[in-house]
Amino acid sequence: MIKIAPSLLSADVSCLGDEIQRLEKAGADMLHFDVMDGHFVPNLTFGPHILKGLKKRTNLPFDVHLMVNNPETVVPWFIEAGADIITFHLEACPEPLRLIELIHQHGKKAGLSTRPDTDVKLLEAYGKSVDLILVMGVEPGFGGQAFRADTPHRIFATKQIAGDFLIAVDGGVNFETAPDCIQAGADILVAGTAVFKNNAYADNIRKLKGE
Ligand code: DX5
Ligand code: ZN
Repeated sequence: MIKIAPSLLSADVSCLGDEIQRLEKAGADMLHFDVMDGHFVPNLTFGPHILKGLKKRTNLPFDVHLMVNNPETVVPWFIEAGADIITFHLEACPEPLRLIELIHQHGKKAGLSTRPDTDVKLLEAYGKSVDLILVMGVEPGFGGQAFRADTPHRIFATKQIAGDFLIAVDGGVNFETAPDCIQAGADILVAGTAVFKNNAYADNIRKLKGE
């Protein structure tokens, strides 16, 4: 069953609490927070205080994507703020096992991601430790970018890694690209632009699921 994780990077930040309640009613399965530090990627977005403030507005899981240089430092902040799934980048944490263990010790799900040009093979050592691998459809940093044509291939390659983890895809996922992602083995689609398009959240979520 395909799950949809709307990226709040594309939400109307002037009414974020109302937006996440609308997304919950529209059938979203979790909320994807793209956390950026201005160093790992040239953009700056959500801090833990925003998640803490939003937690009371929804029962949806908080799916946190850390695009930061120092995940070891910020992971405890987001655990405390209410994150349910925490994904960090292998490029920012060459020794991820300790951080994966810390996330698990707090009863949360741990995910790993890589930039599109990082070799998927580097994730093979962690397939049996993580709950999720996040495949990037774009270079991390901004919503609304063009989907990279090699993404389905990277999803399929990720699927070959030994382990019991879900595969999520993030970046450029829309009505045209979603079927290829699903066919290649994606379980979760992260989408910003495609979900918030024309204010038709429920229809867009249904279409992304292929319903
Ligand atoms: C890139 C961001 C985007 C965002 C979704 O760092 O992570 O991928 O979540 O973007 P779009 O608008 O392409 O769905
Ligand atoms: Zn993301």
